[in-house]
Parts: sequence; structure tokens; C-alpha cells
Amino acid sequence: MNKFTALYPGSFDPPTNGHLDLIARGSKIFDELIVGILRNPEKEPLFSVSERRNMLDEMTSQFRNVRVETFDGLTVDYALKTKASAILRGIRAISDYEYELQMALMNRKLHPELETVFMMPAEQYSYLSSRLVREVAQLGGSIQGLVPEMVEQRLRQKLDPVVKLLRHKTFKAGKS
Ligand code: PNS
Repeated sequence: MNKFTALYPGSFDPPTNGHLDLIARGSKIFDELIVGILRNPEKEPLFSVSERRNMLDEMTSQFRNVRVETFDGLTVDYALKTKASAILRGIRAISDYEYELQMALMNRKLHPELETVFMMPAEQYSYLSSRLVREVAQLGGSIQGLVPEMVEQRLRQKLDPVVKLLRHKTFKAGKS
């Protein structure tokens, strides 16, 4: 019997509990799920590709049919290379829809036989994004419950010096 493989592409900078929720859902309906981290030379990421891969490997070790890979170039080309029949993407709110629809239709234009499947993460993650997690963490706010504990620790390791510097600057500005 043919295996049904899906590719879940993204930046995952950092991976969040919303991503994990979607991976868990995807792993239930596809025989095989590939989490594909885009190596994007145009973006200045917080975490390197290998750091993100390590975090995602750890987060997904419980799922036997999920594996983490990295790719560059077009998502559709990578999907075909890995023999995926579908691209999995999460839709949190209506605001995601326009961008996701555009991407899905462009991907369909490029490779009509490849389907995009949208899934909704649990409601408690509907406002959650990697960008907001980065911003809140960078400004010293709590991200507890939004990312796995291991990701929280790695964010802290990376950002503690930045947070301390910002606090120091604010303190000094307050004094003058
Ligand atoms: O997590 P993100 O940043 O929302 O993921 C966006 C991603 C990686 C899925 C998208 O930027 C992408 O597919 N990039 C690869 C290049 C590509 O295929 N571009 C055409 C998309 S229609």
C-alpha cells in the first residue's frame, strides 16, 4: 500500500507549542510527516538551522512517523523530492487565511498534483506565533506554556544577556 507523506514546512524560529500541536494532529492523519525547516539565507534568524533542528528533533521524538529535515529552494520541489503528496500548514485565525491561500494557490500553480492541507491548532494557541514569542522573550516577558520548557531554556540562554542590557539601559535612562 502506498504511504501518504506530508511535508510541514516553516521557519520554526523558534518552534512553539502551536507547531507541536499541529505536528501531533498531522502525525495522526498522515502515514509519514516531514517537518521541513527552510534554510533561508535572506533572513537573519534568532536560532541557527541546526539549533532549530535539534529543538524540533527533541520535541518530536515521541512521534514514530515524524522526522525533521532542512531544505532550501522551493517548498514544492522539496515536497516532490521527498515524495510528499501534501503540504501541511496551520491556520490560526482568519488573518492567516489570505497569505496561506496565496501560497497554496501558487504552490498548486507550480505543482498541481500537490495538495495543501490546512489544520487548526488548539484554540489556546490561536494567537501564538514565533515572532511574538521572540519579541516577548527579548523584552523579558514570560513565555511559559507557549513553547516547550527546553525551548524556553534555550531562549533564555540566548537572550538573557540582551534582556539584562535592555534593563540596564532603561534603568540608566530613568536616572538621567
Ligand atoms: O513558518 P513560515 O515562515 O510561515 O513558513 C513559510 C514557508 C517556509 C512555508 C514559505 O516561506 C516557503 O514555502 N518558502 C520556500 C520558498 C517557496 O517555496 N516560495 C514560494 C511559496 S508560494
